[in-house]
Amino acid sequence: MKAVVVYESLWGNTAAVARAVAEGMGPEVRSLSTAEASGPAMADVDLIVAGATVLGFQLPSDRMRDSIASNPAGAPRPPDLSHPSMRSWLEALPPGHGAFAAFETGLRWSPGGSTSAIARGLEQAGYRAVMKGQRFVVKGKWGPLRDGELERARRWGAELAHAQV
Ligand SMILES: Cc1cc2nc3c(=O)[nH]c(=O)nc-3n(C[C@H](O)[C@H](O)[C@H](O)COP(=O)(O)O)c2cc1C
Repeated sequence: MKAVVVYESLWGNTAAVARAVAEGMGPEVRSLSTAEASGPAMADVDLIVAGATVLGFQLPSDRMRDSIASNPAGAPRPPDLSHPSMRSWLEALPPGHGAFAAFETGLRWSPGGSTSAIARGLEQAGYRAVMKGQRFVVKGKWGPLRDGELERARRWGAELAHAQV
């Protein structure tokens, strides 16, 4: 089974979760930004695990990304906008017939989220869900992740590795 973990991450929290999920899945699984997840890296993929940050209660739009590009006051560092949004990655994803799981990183209390839009995009491309979407929680608006979240991500990765795809 070929599996990849694909992420959009502006301040690094989702990227860290993606790495932990891939580690939990096994040594052959790579975590890739939306810029890296194309062409041969995506050929014959059986399982896509896709994750993104939550901005304004939803999967970031390109317009939201433009508006935070100016590095808002309080941000510990500028957002990493070097890779495309998960939304545009999903729009460009060629049809496939594998399985998927979705995750997001965000604040504990927030309504909304990113996983439903990620799931919709993957379903439209022909993929089917193998597991319920997961939220990994950050302590503050820009992170860091709450204690224990990376371990939880590794455990979720291990569960995914054993899922029937
Ligand atoms: C401008 C802004 C808006 C945010 N909006 C939400 C939100 O609506 N819901 C939420 O749960 N988290 C929200 N967050 C927190 C981010 O989702 C959280 O820091 C996330 O882990 C960032 O992931 P990244 O570091 O991979 O980009 C927001 C953060 C910022 C900076």
